[in-house]
Amino acid sequence: IAVDLALIESRIRDVPDFPHEGILFKDITPLLAHREAFAAAVDGMSAPFRAEGVDHVVGLEARGFIFGAPIAMALGAGFVPARKAGKLPAKTIDRSYDLEYGTATVEIHADAIAPGARVLIVDDVLATGGTGRAAVELVRKAGGTVVGFSVLMELAALRGREMLPDVEPHILLSV
Ligand code: PRP
Ligand code: MG
Repeated sequence: IAVDLALIESRIRDVPDFPHEGILFKDITPLLAHREAFAAAVDGMSAPFRAEGVDHVVGLEARGFIFGAPIAMALGAGFVPARKAGKLPAKTIDRSYDLEYGTATVEIHADAIAPGARVLIVDDVLATGGTGRAAVELVRKAGGTVVGFSVLMELAALRGREMLPDVEPHILLSV
């Protein structure tokens, strides 16, 4: 499929000095609010996986939920939320990763992914790769097979791709 990357890019807003001075934040909310741009992003992020027999899409809290749920519908897959620590009510498995200051933990329900299930991981942005790496490791710990990691955009200068263990990310935009 031909995805209108120019339309998608035109709806991502640069916000200077957010959340800290000197950071240029890539704001996806104008894209989400735009019918055609949002549809194009969901199409482009899901298209390579249509024939992959995806059982579950794992979406990463919070912005990965926004893309993960429609991608799951597009692929005929179920949706599994990977949440920040302490949010899921039943038995969980978790994985911690490093942030600029301190660590973060991502969790899924222990029974969410059957052994051998085919899983597509979805998020909005690949930056340092810490979040994506933790998600890949978490799905494998659960016994799932990672068939891909689909993101809207990468912040290429941060070289997050190099952090991903044996997964080639599918990325629509490199900024
Ligand atoms: C952001 C972004 C990605 C992650 C990428 O999430 O949505 O999930 O950072 O960064 P990394 O590649 O360096 O790990 P964040 O946790 O800031 O907030 P969110 O809850 O709004 O998604
Ligand atoms: Mg996030």
